[in-house]
Amino acid sequence: MFSRLNKSASMRSPLRLISNHIARSSVSARQTTSVVSPLATLSSSGIRVSWPEGGESHFHNIWLRDHCRCPRCLHQVTRQRLFDTFSIPDTIKPSNIDWDDQGLRIRWGESDHESNFRWPWLRSNSFTSQTPSQSIPIPSNKILWGKEIAQNPPTVSYQSVMQDGEEGIRKWLDYIDSHGFCYVTGVPVSPEKTEELAKMISHIRMTHWGGFWDFTADESRGDTAYSNLALRAHTDNTYYTEPSGLQMFHMLEFRGKGGESLLVDGFQAAKILKEKYPESYEILSTVRIPTHAAGDDGFLFQPTPNPGYPILNHGEGGELYQIRYNNDDRSTMRHLPYEQVEPFYTALKRWSAILTDVGSEYWRQLTPGTLVVFDNWRVLHGRAAFTGYRRLCGCYISWDDYQSRLKVARLKTNNKQVKDVI
Ligand SMILES: [Fe+2]
Repeated sequence: MFSRLNKSASMRSPLRLISNHIARSSVSARQTTSVVSPLATLSSSGIRVSWPEGGESHFHNIWLRDHCRCPRCLHQVTRQRLFDTFSIPDTIKPSNIDWDDQGLRIRWGESDHESNFRWPWLRSNSFTSQTPSQSIPIPSNKILWGKEIAQNPPTVSYQSVMQDGEEGIRKWLDYIDSHGFCYVTGVPVSPEKTEELAKMISHIRMTHWGGFWDFTADESRGDTAYSNLALRAHTDNTYYTEPSGLQMFHMLEFRGKGGESLLVDGFQAAKILKEKYPESYEILSTVRIPTHAAGDDGFLFQPTPNPGYPILNHGEGGELYQIRYNNDDRSTMRHLPYEQVEPFYTALKRWSAILTDVGSEYWRQLTPGTLVVFDNWRVLHGRAAFTGYRRLCGCYISWDDYQSRLKVARLKTNNKQVKDVI
């Protein structure tokens, strides 16, 4: 795509100003061209670009590697990240750069990978602003957990939900409120009965994915959720202004291998992050993450206000109330001040390390007849890769509808009315 380097131009290039240790990484120079192109120079941690119209941008090495636009690193249709952010070594730096009037080419030292960036893309994604700060506590009624929850996971029976009236609903939703999830056992293996059960909480949230869904792996859909790939722990709908509050999964049929479901308590992970790395907690509580869903024709979702919301969200009193995290759906980070890039990636790596720690991960193979409902504002979910035939049904319920149903069930089972509390 870009012209080959022209060593004769190297002495006229700003690259001759770089420090000795960078110079040893066989940095090349730009090609001489009649078109006025930006100039690139290496710094100790990134690449500075001087724009012909004036001004300078400074792009951090880890940011550049993370935002590689090539088809191996970025799905060209869904614009989802295919590249593993966490494989980037802390010492990442170019072994060679060159450029022309079209863009900048970087060859990475450690991986022998090449990234090409068009100048207009770099220009429009240059870093600009900063964001304010906040702090924690977690509401006292929350029971935090790690993998040990497997010994005694919160569970209710289909029969109690369907036949015990408000008491059955309250017990079910109380578990979701305290633990962030709850199984229901003895559910008829049918999408119709599953939908009926979901509607015991509230109406189903309609999204661009539909209402109540019943699907198998489907590569024609614009999201990795419909593939048979492994999915890291994430929350859904980070690209909506309001992510869905609850999600329900019921495995109707599975003939194959793999596909175990993963749950991780995001509040527990946040608590660990806060205790071990308060400065990283602060960063993930304040840096806004731009996100998108663009894989289905006719849709482009991005949260309002721009550029989205932090991973850790707090109320006015500082209480943690929502986790929003899906690294695959993170868009271009163009709003971080340069000095914040490295601390941000450090914080993100620490967060990911806690989520993927063996003590955090609760794995279970879902089976027909036992469904799970979880709080999408707290509990992250994922799955192992699988082969074979896997049919799953489920739905979203909005946060407000879930909270309303929980409050009403508590009022009724305590012989109170709304007017008693409002
Ligand atoms: Fe998901």
